[in-house]
This record gives sequence, structure tokens and C-alpha cells, in this order.
Amino acid sequence: MDVNNLVSIAQAMVADHKGLLAADESTGTITKRFETINVNSTADSRRDYRELLFRAAGIGKYISGVILYDETIRQSAADGTTLVDLMKKEGILPGIKVDSGAKPLAGSDSETVTEGLDGLRDRVMEYVDLGAKFAKWRAVIKIGDEMPSGHAIHTNAHALARYAKICQEGGLVPIVEPEVLMDGNHDINSCQQITEETLNSVFGELYAQEVVLEGMILKPNMVISGSDGEKRADINEVANETVATLMRCVPAAVPGVMFLSGGQSEIEATMHLNAMNNNHKNLPWKLSYSYGRALQASALKAWLGEAGNVKSAQEALMLRASLNSAACAAEYKGEAV
Ligand code: 13P
Repeated sequence: MDVNNLVSIAQAMVADHKGLLAADESTGTITKRFETINVNSTADSRRDYRELLFRAAGIGKYISGVILYDETIRQSAADGTTLVDLMKKEGILPGIKVDSGAKPLAGSDSETVTEGLDGLRDRVMEYVDLGAKFAKWRAVIKIGDEMPSGHAIHTNAHALARYAKICQEGGLVPIVEPEVLMDGNHDINSCQQITEETLNSVFGELYAQEVVLEGMILKPNMVISGSDGEKRADINEVANETVATLMRCVPAAVPGVMFLSGGQSEIEATMHLNAMNNNHKNLPWKLSYSYGRALQASALKAWLGEAGNVKSAQEALMLRASLNSAACAAEYKGEAV
């Protein structure tokens, strides 16, 4: 295993003022997003949309890497340049989602386990040939009646560690993503407890399976009230509870924590990240972003599938990317809403 290579990729992913763009929506998910703007989801329309994101001039100033879906890493722009080459020109590292989704967990009515380990070693080799430098695997933990079960947490943590080790052996930096969902009416304390239990289980498995902590990135949820909760915790409480939980669970050897947005609005996701970096200095790891919806929502709305809207969609993406970049250094000053 080339540990130095893994460490240098992981360091580049969390370079100062930079974060990741999660553009790895599966075909099913991007189709749902396109339905909200009445755009037909075809291989070409998906390519056009992703191409506009990666061609936003200067995006490499804020974005260190993009997480791609299997279809996208193989696609070329309208002028024939591969999308991977487009990214490289901007100094952006290509990454790849390698899980095959959250599937029903045996022995449970509504919990899931993320699958995709079969054949993973060979797929990693292929993705490295296609130019990928890092990978992503998302485990999903639900809060609800009698959920999560210890079984769901443990099974998902075990699979995350198996994935991480296979990626490192093949030369990809694994993004380890245990997402405790925001769905539900639970309070921030429930989210805190479940997130802590989940992270402890994940790091226990990573340790047991000898994953190199210096050569991975953690992509967790923030500790936050359920989206249907009544008295939702404010920005500072989310920031402080999130950092306190990470301090208890995440070893200092991990170079970076790059959050998912998980259904937060674009502005909330930026404010939370800024508050964490503002309220807490000298943390052992970088705190940055790996947002999907919170980077793309307004760009998607601006685009509407029209070639004439490409520029305004790119401007919308650049605005979110620049504000989140500022939030990495606690320099976000708010915005007109
Ligand atoms: P969101 O930021 O939209 O939650 O997406 C991030 C991601 O990659 C989820 O796996």
C-alpha cells in the first residue's frame, strides 16, 4: 500500500479554503432532481448538467475534488474532452461513488445496509485507470421508533471499514460517510447520541480492519434537530454539539472532516460550517464541506435544462462554492436572503 500517496491525496482534498462537490447522484436520484425543473433525464442531459458544473470558470479555487457517479466518470463533454480531463484542467481531483446503494437489512423492517463490496477490488482498479483519486461509500442510519438498532449500526460500520481498506489497498482515498439522517421529528440530543454511537462504531471497525486514518476522509452528518422537529436547535448549538461529538469520536490522525448537507438549505449549511470554524480554533482536523444539494440547489434552478441559462447556473454554483470556501476559514459574512 502506498501510504504516502494516500496521505498526499487526502491532504489535497482538504487544502485550505477548499471542499468537495458531491455530484454523484445515482441515475434515479438525478432523475428526481431533474423532475423538479421539468427536465427529461437522459445520458446527454445528465452530461450537459455535469459539464456545466465542471466548466464553471475558476471553480478549482474553491473545489478540490468532485465525487462522480459511474456513468459520469466515463462521459465526455460535448466537444469530446473527457469530463475527467475537464476537471484536471481546473486542478480538481476526480472521485467516484463505489457503493451500490442502501438495501433492506435482513432482520429489520425499515433499516438498510449499504451494499457494493462484491467485485469492489476490480472496480477500484478500473476507476484508478479512469483517473479517480478517491472514493465514496455512504451508509444510512435512520432515527425513529426503535431505530437505529445496534445491528444496523454495526453492519454498516463493518461494511464501511471493508470498503475503506479495499480502496486504500488499490490507491484510492476512501471517504467514509456514515449519514445519520435528518428526517424525522427527533431533537438534537437524539441526533447527538446516535451520531456519537455511530462514529464510535465506525472508528472501532476502521481500527480493527487497520485502515490508515491519515489516508481517509470522514464525511459525517452535522449534529442537528430532525427536519420536522418543533423547536429546532439554532446555528451555534448545531455547531457546538457537532464539534463536541467529533472531538469525542474522531482520532486526530484523520486529516479532514468534510460534511454532507443532508437536506439543509444552502444558507444553513454554509452558516453551520462557518460557526464551527469560528467557534472552535486549533481543531485536530480540517472542517470543510462535501455538499451535494447545498452546492447545487440554486444552480439547478437557474439552469432549467436551457443552454441559454448555463452562465447563470455556473454563477449560482460559484456563489455557493465561494461562500462555503469562506466558511472553511470562518470568513463568511452572511448574504442577502
Ligand atoms: P447532500 O449534501 O445533498 O446530502 O449530498 C452529499 C452526499 O454525497 C450524500 O451522499
